Amino acid sequence: HTPQITPNRIRTILFGKYEIDPWYSAPYPEEYITHNGILYICEYCFKYMKSYVVLVRHMVKCKCNHPPGDEIYRHDSLSIFEVNGSTNKIYCQNLCLFAKMFLDHKTLYYDVEPFLFYILTEWDNEGCHFVGYFSKEKCSASNFNVSCILTMPTYQRKGYGNFLIEFSYLLSSVEGVLGTPEKPLSDLGLISYRKFWKQRVLEAISDVREPTTITQISSLTGMTNDDVVSALENCNMLRVSEASVDGPPEFYIEIDTEEIENSLKKFNLKPQLRVNPENLCWNPHK
Ligand code: COA
Ligand code: NA
Repeated sequence: HTPQITPNRIRTILFGKYEIDPWYSAPYPEEYITHNGILYICEYCFKYMKSYVVLVRHMVKCKCNHPPGDEIYRHDSLSIFEVNGSTNKIYCQNLCLFAKMFLDHKTLYYDVEPFLFYILTEWDNEGCHFVGYFSKEKCSASNFNVSCILTMPTYQRKGYGNFLIEFSYLLSSVEGVLGTPEKPLSDLGLISYRKFWKQRVLEAISDVREPTTITQISSLTGMTNDDVVSALENCNMLRVSEASVDGPPEFYIEIDTEEIENSLKKFNLKPQLRVNPENLCWNPHK
């Protein structure tokens, strides 16, 4: 006889002015999951609470209306804060627990010290509201420039994910390295990156306006050779040369100008949030 286990789960979270239903389970301590299935989370410090009364009391005391750390980017109402996993351990742990609700694969929650967190917020007269974030290893042997990336469900499909990805490549370019996200990517992560890579590669090719190589596109875009190759494959512009049947394959690019123009036009149909490098005020982590 197996005892009946009532699955204790979080049905909804209350976060700022939003009620959000989690996509996946996250290992919040058992005692925080109450009979109504609602978890109350401070939208500024990610502290989780059992009841609305406790949340309200907390909001009066919680003086922070923005993430901890340094504001390293600002443009209009958008800001990005860099938060160090060692100096703001609790904040980062709580953020990771929160993010797990929207990630299917296992992710870290407690071992946050080796990471930096880049928090995207949108400002109004109450404070800097959380929009999304990505985490990044302080030292990555494989030059991973993103470990985990998330846009709050209430803000998805508005271009913020693309903006965060573009920002992660800006940081890598300041560091003088090519970057790539940590694998595996989720389904949504993969389609977002594929779209970003395609646009970035096509923009680079249309800027040089002459025969180009994978290495050259890599250095123009800050993308690794592998990611450039996969983007070119997606655009159906990668060819293997006949002469290389015996040796290692040799790839070359077959530029389809019309296809490039059409694709770039499509990208520009919808106004896009773009990162402005001049608004970054940042030194690489040592
Ligand atoms: N369905 C179809 N296409 C989608 C999509 C969806 N639900 N979400 C993103 N895309 C594609 C689209 O091509 C989109 O561009 P478009 O809206 O102009 O067509 C493109 O990706 C980028 O969308 P964008 O609005 O910039 O991204 P986002 O803010 O929605 O964030 C993620 C993208 C991946 C960060 C977001 O989906 C997310 O947080 N997912 C949960 C966490 C996760 O899986 N993270 C990645 C692994 S660590
Ligand atoms: Na990942």
